[in-house]
Amino acid sequence: MSPARTPRYTVPGLGVDEGRQVIDLLTLRLHALNDLALTLKHIHWNVVGPHFIAVHEMLDPQTAAVRDMADAAAERISALGGEPQGTPGVLVKERTWDDYSVGRADAIAHLGALDLVYTGIIEAHREAVEKAGELDPVTEDLLIEHLRGLEQFQWFVRAHLESSSGTLSNAGADTEVAAAAAASPKRATAKRTPAKKTALPAPAKKTAAPAAKKTAKKTASKRTTR
Ligand SMILES: [Fe+2]
Repeated sequence: MSPARTPRYTVPGLGVDEGRQVIDLLTLRLHALNDLALTLKHIHWNVVGPHFIAVHEMLDPQTAAVRDMADAAAERISALGGEPQGTPGVLVKERTWDDYSVGRADAIAHLGALDLVYTGIIEAHREAVEKAGELDPVTEDLLIEHLRGLEQFQWFVRAHLESSSGTLSNAGADTEVAAAAAASPKRATAKRTPAKKTALPAPAKKTAAPAAKKTAKKTASKRTTR
């Protein structure tokens, strides 16, 4: 991601260099939230099967809430003296994850994949909370508020994947396509050919052998921090 320019001013009590660091951090969170809002609509439009209406309708309030989160992140960037980046070209250029990789598919299959999407954004938001806590408690508070909503939405998703013994049907899957297949093994899923980023450092790849690393890079939409 290209670093934010140092603002000419920022909020009282914060130095401009600290302001720049917080703007930088918030910019990637803004991209992740805008990406999530689009992904939720993509799923809303592409679910099929017996649970269609339940999942189709569950996702609209989540989309609205995530758009509000993006709006709050963008306005915080403005308040800090920065310039929020809201165009799709910048989002795609600066994001560090692949496009969502499932096309038309059974509703439960989509939820299996969406669970991984939520895990990625929640992990990244938690990391951002930690960094923001060292710089700006107001931004930290904003991101914690986002997490409250995001983690509730992931629970809504996971409740569809959970057995009465508490096991998730997509447990252990590390790609969206694999998670979709694990959640709904009897129903075929239509895999998309999403736009790929070339470098996707997922935690599991750090210990992988060189040959395995190469394979992992070719695999679309590994679970990544968003
Ligand atoms: Fe709709």
